[in-house]
Amino acid sequence: MSLPILLAPSLLSADFMNLERDVKTLESGNADVLHVDVMDGHFVPNITIGPPVVAALRRITDLPLDCHLMIEKPDDFIPTFAEAGADWISIHQETSPHLHRSLALIRSFGKKAGIVLNPVTPIEFCFDAAEYADYILLMSVNPGFGGQKFIASFYRRAEKLRSFLDNNGLGKVEIEVDGGIKIENALDAVRAGANILVSGSGIFSGDVAENLHTMRRAVNA
Ligand code: DX5
Ligand code: ZN
Repeated sequence: MSLPILLAPSLLSADFMNLERDVKTLESGNADVLHVDVMDGHFVPNITIGPPVVAALRRITDLPLDCHLMIEKPDDFIPTFAEAGADWISIHQETSPHLHRSLALIRSFGKKAGIVLNPVTPIEFCFDAAEYADYILLMSVNPGFGGQKFIASFYRRAEKLRSFLDNNGLGKVEIEVDGGIKIENALDAVRAGANILVSGSGIFSGDVAENLHTMRRAVNA
């Protein structure tokens, strides 16, 4: 099965004082999805944005909002993010002892449900839950900050996960990669099995729309 390749710029690298302008620039560069990084200062050592900003984004764009919840007790906030206008909601395996229930909760709002694994969390930890998810996000940096160096073990992890999914009737489950993705390594990430590419600092340096076009050409090579 060939899944569409989606470019998901991370708003973490946007200019928060000019968020609407940056969203419009991403739209003009044909971004497919907007990746929204939600951090709580507990699960990860940083605090970012929450439901009011998601609601504000919802008012200015029709692009899907991909909310990556890097927070403890995500179940407590899934309804709030769903009501704020998230389209996709992903939760970390490391914060979610009842993954089956949490994924069902996300889907109960009609949203796409994702499982996130940190860079060295065993890939097998998502296998039994994968059939209840729409996508698996493999972190290729330790979550918490933009602009970190890509961790190359992502490649073999994505290959292993893609084969597991394809060999178990789960070819529709998508793989998202997040962290250190630039124009230079985007195609390698796709070849390893990712079809949703998050990129923050790689897109928000220089000409944002041009970077998106260049990344699109690179992954379609
Ligand atoms: C990191 C976030 C990422 C981050 C990626 O915790 O989940 O989405 O914004 O930024 P870059 O692409 O700069 O590594
Ligand atoms: Zn993210």
